[in-house]
Formats: sequence, C-alpha cells, structure tokens
Amino acid sequence: MRNKLLKILQENKNEFVNGNELAKLFDVSKMAISKQVKNLRNDGYIIESKPNKGYRLLHNKDSIDIDYISSKIDTFYSNIEFFKTIDSTNNYLKINNQLKQGHIVIADNQSEGRGRSNRKFFSPLNSGIYLSILLKPKDSVLNLLKLTSLTAVAVNEAIKEHYPVNSQIKWVNDILIDNKKVSGILLEASLEMNTANLEYLIIGIGINVHKQKFPDDLKEIATSIENNCDLYISRNELIVSVLNNLSEIYNDMNNSIYMDKYRNNSAIINKKIEYTINNKTSNGIVVKIDNMGHLHINDNNEIIIMNSGEIKMI
Ligand code: BTN
Repeated sequence: MRNKLLKILQENKNEFVNGNELAKLFDVSKMAISKQVKNLRNDGYIIESKPNKGYRLLHNKDSIDIDYISSKIDTFYSNIEFFKTIDSTNNYLKINNQLKQGHIVIADNQSEGRGRSNRKFFSPLNSGIYLSILLKPKDSVLNLLKLTSLTAVAVNEAIKEHYPVNSQIKWVNDILIDNKKVSGILLEASLEMNTANLEYLIIGIGINVHKQKFPDDLKEIATSIENNCDLYISRNELIVSVLNNLSEIYNDMNNSIYMDKYRNNSAIINKKIEYTINNKTSNGIVVKIDNMGHLHINDNNEIIIMNSGEIKMI
C-alpha cells in the first residue's frame, strides 16, 4: 500500500488527493491512510495535508547523496560517512579520532545532538544538516576562536548563495534569520598533554533547512531556512557549498576578507547585549569585533574584550 500510495501522490504532484477517495480506493480507514502518509513523511517526503482537501506531495525525498557530494567537494576532504541515525556526529569523530584529516560524517537524524554549554541541538529526521569534520591542523598555534568565527562565515555564505534570506551571524557562531537561530556550530579540540599541540579538531555544523515545526521550548528562538522563504533546495547542494567555503577559508585563514565578511554580516555590531564573564552578567554595546574574533563591548564607557563565553541580544 505504501508504494502504491506514493505512486498516486507522485502522479498528482502538487495537487491535492482526497483522503476519503484514497481510503475507498485502498478499502481501508482514513486513519490508515494518515498513518501511511506519516510513514512517508518520516522517510523524507514532504506531504502537505489540509482538512477537506486531502494530501499533496510537495517534494520528493531529499536523500543525502554521498557520491554526489564527494564529486563536488575540494580534495581537502577525505572520506564521507553517512548514518541514517546516530547519537551525535561530533561524538562519532571523537571516538574515531584516528580517522584521516578531512573525514566527514553526515547524519539524517541525531538522537543526542549537542550544542555549546551542554545544550541539546534539536536534530529531527530528514529536515536538517547534521555534519562533522575531523581536522588534524599542522599549525599548532591555530587560532581556534578565529576558526570558530570563520566557520560561521562559511555557513552563512552558503545559505546566502542558495536562498534569498538575510541571515546574520551572532557572536561567536550562531546563524540567525530574523533573530531566530537557523544554525549552530560546535568546535571541539583535543590537545596533546606534553606539547599543548592540537591533536585533532572537530567542527560540528547543524543547519535547520526544510520547513519544520519546532517544539514549544524552541519555537521562539529557533527557525529553519525554509520557514523563512518559499524555496526548496536539496540538502546536498547546501552541504557542498558549506564544505567548499570552509576549505577555502581554512586554507587562507589570514586573508582579511573573511573577517570583513564576518563583521559585515554580524547581527550584533552596535547592538545592546547582555554578556557573562566569570559568572558575572552585565550589559553593553558591541563596538567592534577584531581580526582575532574578539568582541569589544562598551560597558559604561569601559571597553571589555571577550574571547569566549555567551552573549544575549537584548
Ligand atoms: C550550538 O548551537 O551551540 C552548536 C550546535 C552544533 C550542532 C552540530 S549538529 C552536528 C554536530 N553534532 C553534534 O552533536 N553537534 C554538532
């Protein structure tokens, strides 16, 4: 029944197919049809339903296509692994940190997607990009804060390449549309104890792509790209852009154009923020983000420089 139902919806793509008629055709209840539609949605098909009108297929499945991605990305990267479901792509690379420089892990769904400060990253099936990259930087003095900022530039540029949205970067590396988060980035590094050199680095990127209903605790602060515009683009295209932007920036990190792009797309320059340093919270205006990615805040005419921590826009 699943395949036959899918075929009918595909033959009538973008048109509503009446639920009662489908139930009659298959000689089942309307409930049984709704259950099959739910299964198809879980599989990645975008099917709209409207009372009295029925169901219409808007988009076929947006499957992650590793061969396509591999054929389009820079040789900087090595292998790509794909998981339908995983706890966290960052966790996977932490455990498998002996893999080669440039190893990429992509998942359709994460059960334990992680954000900064032990927060969770909502990672529903087929709807977003959940991707991590393993790097083995040769440069022992790699500026991690700068790389964190520049990863945000890579993601933000990729979003703008494909969608007509005004996405902006919130320090350090959240991407916002209309002040709601569409993407989060989590960098994790391991240091060699004796030399303090970087042993490996994991860049984890999460992007909310397709139209999505967010749970109550997130709906005021999170959004997806397609909740903000009427385009539907395959996740594969966005992944290719993110990866190619990132390798280009990583190989040319000291080029000032990237920090300029960061500043030009900042959501917080000249804005009032709440910041927390050493458990002390205060307010100020962001006056500058320097070339190292440090934040300069004017707090009652005193300039505070932040190089890590959390801020809130107020
Ligand atoms: C944040 O919002 O603070 C960062 C979110 C980072 C989410 C990505 S999704 C892929 C990778 N795996 C994880 O568990 N987290 C990162």
